[in-house]
Amino acid sequence: MKIFADTANLKDLKELISWGIVDGCTTNPSIVAKEKGVDFKTRMKEIIDLVDGPVSIEVTTNDLHEMITESKKYAAWGDNVNVKIPMGITGLKAVNILNKNDIKTNVTACMSTKQAVLAAKAGATFVSLFWARMEDMGYNSELIVGETAEIFERHNIKSEIILGSFRQVSHINRAMLSGAHILTIPTPILKKLPWNPRTKSTIDEFLKSWEEFNKN
Ligand code: E4P
Repeated sequence: MKIFADTANLKDLKELISWGIVDGCTTNPSIVAKEKGVDFKTRMKEIIDLVDGPVSIEVTTNDLHEMITESKKYAAWGDNVNVKIPMGITGLKAVNILNKNDIKTNVTACMSTKQAVLAAKAGATFVSLFWARMEDMGYNSELIVGETAEIFERHNIKSEIILGSFRQVSHINRAMLSGAHILTIPTPILKKLPWNPRTKSTIDEFLKSWEEFNKN
């Protein structure tokens, strides 16, 4: 199970990397927009250098020609870059062209198995399904991810499934079991995962015993 950090915040990224749990990083225009006053290229290059694994940078256009131009620019920033391309007909065309140019892609905002299979067929390195946004639509995220994973395995499809769009800790266990290869998780949720009240009370109890032992 790989875990990516769904953030463009350098301080958060450094902290999470120090835990030894970060296999990659994903960004999107909304995530970048939270980083007030930073230069986009500078920040992306800092992330690319920091992360020992794939880094997703998203295109900011719906135009095919502009997608290709942006993608080539981002791909030149580092060997670990993959370009996030929006799901859709134009996106599929872009992935097909980029794949032939050896540029890695992450087809984003997929909300169905059918979209994920098309993205993979077009040559996507990664296919991103959005857990909470699918649930917002009344879809069964577990079923969609499970079916997608089964189809990929049955047909030996090489694209990796990234699951994103998590809003609660309770999503994470279900998502880990769903069949996705990668979970990309925002910092506030990642920071809650190590914590458990019974773990804390147990450690406190052990330390208290140790203090008492040393009083004698
Ligand atoms: C990750 O690749 C996605 O861009 C991100 O997880 C989307 O999350 P959201 O649905 O909270 O915007």
